[in-house]
Amino acid sequence: MTILHTTRLRLEPFAGHHLDGLHDMNGRPEVMRYISGQPETRDQTAAAIARVQRCWAVLGTSWWAFIDLDSGRVAGAGCIQYLRREANPPDDLESLRSNPLEIGWRLHPDFWRQGLASEAAQRMAAFAFESLAAKDLFAVRHPENVSSGRVMDRLGMRYRGLESWYGTELATHVISRHEWQTRQGTAE
Ligand SMILES: CC(C)(COP(=O)(O)OP(=O)(O)OC[C@H]1O[C@@H](n2cnc3c(N)ncnc32)[C@H](O)[C@@H]1OP(=O)(O)O)[C@@H](O)C(=O)NCCC(=O)NCCS
Repeated sequence: MTILHTTRLRLEPFAGHHLDGLHDMNGRPEVMRYISGQPETRDQTAAAIARVQRCWAVLGTSWWAFIDLDSGRVAGAGCIQYLRREANPPDDLESLRSNPLEIGWRLHPDFWRQGLASEAAQRMAAFAFESLAAKDLFAVRHPENVSSGRVMDRLGMRYRGLESWYGTELATHVISRHEWQTRQGTAE
């Protein structure tokens, strides 16, 4: 499990002590509007933490809680994880390894419009390309989720079109390893 750092955040793999902070975010309709469409119950957030802990153990990548260094609060969460076509995860998590990696993010509304999602995304993408040697990094969003699309644009991702992921049609964006390295000035 890997802790990451940015100027304003510490990214910690999900743990039991994040439950209150994560639920304060995932329990809000405005946060879940374009994700599941439903605010999460506390039990659902606890189950998500347990699922994420299994993914870290089996796959070596999953979701982080974003800790705001100033306040110590859970400002958001983000992931590098294997995409899948189906709505539900398979029993055999290892089978996901043949799928592309995706990057994702969400913030508590108190932390919107401060650049924090983009700051965390930059660090998580570096983890995907440098530590996991990803060839490509995908991101998917509800087609009306314009704010999330802007985070993808700022990361240098290209729009591929509507594609079927998680059992639904999602706007799909990608950046290749070469494109990423060129943006960082580290192309091989
Ligand atoms: C998607 C989501 C994370 C985007 O949050 P965000 O705050 O707009 O994104 P960032 O943290 O990168 O902030 C960027 C914005 O802050 C502004 N900003 C203000 N201060 C800034 C600073 N110091 N540095 C950088 N940007 C700053 C930028 O101009 C930008 O605004 P713009 O998009 O209007 O140009 C947020 O809307 C969210 O949590 N939504 C609910 C969950 C969700 O839908 N997740 C995505 C699922 S695909």
